[in-house]
Amino acid sequence: IEDEKIEQLLKQMTLEEKVGQMTQVTLEVISKGEGPFNMDKSWALDQKKLEDVLLNYHVGSILNTAGEVRTPQEWYEVIKPIQDVAVNNTRLKIPVLYGIDAIHGMYSAGATMFPQEVAMGAAWNPELVRKSSEVIAYETRACGIPWTFNPTLDLGIDPRWPRMWESYGEDPYLQSVMGVASVKGYEGADVSDPHQVASCLKHYIGYGAPRSGKDRTPAWIPETFLREYFLPPFAAAVKAGAKSIMVNSGEINGMPVHASKKLLTDILRGELGFEGVVVTDWFDINNLVERHHIAATKKEAVKKAILAGIDMSMVPYDVEFSKDLIALVKEGEISEERIDSSVRRILKMKYELGLFENPLTDYRKYPEYGGEKHHQLARESAHEAITLLKNEKSILPLKKEAKILVTGPNANSMRSLNGGWTYTWQGEATNKHAADHNTIVEALQAQSNNIIFEEGVKYPENNPDYKVDEIVDIQKAVTAAKKVDYILLCLGENSYTEKPGDLDDLTLSENQLQLAHAMIATNKPVILILNEGRPRIISSFEDKVKAVVQLYLPGNEGGNALADILYGKINPSGKLPYTYPRYANDLVPYYHKFSASTAHTDGNINNNHKIKAQYAFGFGLSYTTFKYEDLKLSSTKISSDDELEVSVKVTNTGEREGKEVVQLYTTDLVASLSPSVKRLRRFEKVNLKAGESKTITFKINKTDLSFIGHDNKPVVEAGEFIISTGNLQQKFELLDTKQL
Ligand code: IFM
Repeated sequence: IEDEKIEQLLKQMTLEEKVGQMTQVTLEVISKGEGPFNMDKSWALDQKKLEDVLLNYHVGSILNTAGEVRTPQEWYEVIKPIQDVAVNNTRLKIPVLYGIDAIHGMYSAGATMFPQEVAMGAAWNPELVRKSSEVIAYETRACGIPWTFNPTLDLGIDPRWPRMWESYGEDPYLQSVMGVASVKGYEGADVSDPHQVASCLKHYIGYGAPRSGKDRTPAWIPETFLREYFLPPFAAAVKAGAKSIMVNSGEINGMPVHASKKLLTDILRGELGFEGVVVTDWFDINNLVERHHIAATKKEAVKKAILAGIDMSMVPYDVEFSKDLIALVKEGEISEERIDSSVRRILKMKYELGLFENPLTDYRKYPEYGGEKHHQLARESAHEAITLLKNEKSILPLKKEAKILVTGPNANSMRSLNGGWTYTWQGEATNKHAADHNTIVEALQAQSNNIIFEEGVKYPENNPDYKVDEIVDIQKAVTAAKKVDYILLCLGENSYTEKPGDLDDLTLSENQLQLAHAMIATNKPVILILNEGRPRIISSFEDKVKAVVQLYLPGNEGGNALADILYGKINPSGKLPYTYPRYANDLVPYYHKFSASTAHTDGNINNNHKIKAQYAFGFGLSYTTFKYEDLKLSSTKISSDDELEVSVKVTNTGEREGKEVVQLYTTDLVASLSPSVKRLRRFEKVNLKAGESKTITFKINKTDLSFIGHDNKPVVEAGEFIISTGNLQQKFELLDTKQL
């Protein structure tokens, strides 16, 4: 029935109306006032511009926020006039598809802010990801918006890249599992349910690996590696039913992804079977001219992008995009069938979301918005994410009677706890809008009377370069340290995303290093708290601190969650979703060949190439201890069609309850293409009471043992493999070679 309706609608549409559906503008285009997009400016609708955009350009989609942060009711007042014109005044009454970057919480006053993706990756708990996405969907829909630009499935393999934290980490399997959970949470069993939203996988593909480490700069990725590491998370999330996908703004091997028919059509549609909407990123068709220089004119760029497989252009200001596209169809350069296939997909998404019957959800029907239940889930997520990386002589947990000096630029900042895309693009409004939540120091003070605070170094509120910090008074912090038992040194980064987050140096800032060294020199035990979107280099002083806790970007409940962990109310269970580098020249994921676990045996006696990470992927301590034993395989010789059952007994050998992430890796000992050191194949987070044991069973199959071969196709090759989990290993043999 839906398909019939779409076909009927399509038949009635003029070329102009069709092309309009393929156009997405930013909210600012219909706002009062001129000038560039400005988050600080208050926003007001310009009814005339709205009518021009919808009635003359037939625009089908709008994105973004502008101006002040709004309540759900205020959002309703933004969206209502838009949908009113769309469904009452346009000829065919097609609702507008409104999209937004609600990546860890809706861009709205009072919304629940969950840990960012990198932290959710560290929780290794897909069910938490599903539930948090479900809440984000609910709160986004409470604001009248049915489409979020999330999850990000770019591999977080390079900490120089300013969006590493928007991913679930460096591992393709972890990323796939979490991506699927997120899509399920956003879209639910039926995406037309007014509590669900359509998801948007991004940024397809290879965006996380720019050669320079800087945002939106070219990547060089051999097709074998693209398929081995970068494609699986997208393939898994497409299979889970994701409704849309956003394209990588960068180029791979010289080809901008926005113009790559191979990536957008042959692989995405042909091989992965994606049937949803492909949307560009910001201004990216124009960028084929301006940034990539693969088209001399805008019109040529439009032709290349549409023929490559783009359905919708985030223009976001340049509504003239439609003129070029219309001309290209009239000149016979692009067929009308090609346009129809995109419009069909866009209309289908609108139907599936129930927008034709229900173009606007009503904020009054969302009683749980920003409520206690949602905040509890955010706190629980932060509990499971926070990762204990060092705990010399079990210095943690602390007693409430202990006197603590809290210092550092991240100690009293809601903004740094949340990171970018929080209330606003760069998160610059967070301190104001999250003022009723606890910063780290506030959370500690809420649980103990023995907290002193001396900032030492701060992030200035009004500096447009978010990376800058400045010294307040380090001497004051040194003096205060004399009165305490412990120093809680809160370092890291301020919020950022995209270009403004590009770095010149991965080491922590000079000012923060100065504060760290001054605190260490007091000889009081220093507990280092890291609140950062990516691993910043800490090797110059890490050996002199007694404990290290990685917070990542834990969201609005992050301060409370940290206090719960520091005082022992909660036992930490997070594990690093990336390799924490020791040196800036050693930026490789764990599966890279010259990793910590595999010496590079090139005949040199001094093995200079061995890379030693600061902390390994998958690492994280607990207040209890776990023992692994009885690693058993269902067989030590299997054929490729067999399923291998692997079981291991895990015991909590300490004195308190705790959660352990049981991780299962495979290593292919010899292969026709030099194999990865090891690869994560399965994991399960288990809760164990003190003294309790559980036997965990995993099943692995030929896909888990395969790799992308010389010809870019998956293959399993006969030979020996190692299965490893915890400190245990077992060998087995695969008896046959097979192309998959
Ligand atoms: O969704 C984002 C994307 O991640 C980066 N460029 C802008 C888009 C829309 O805001």
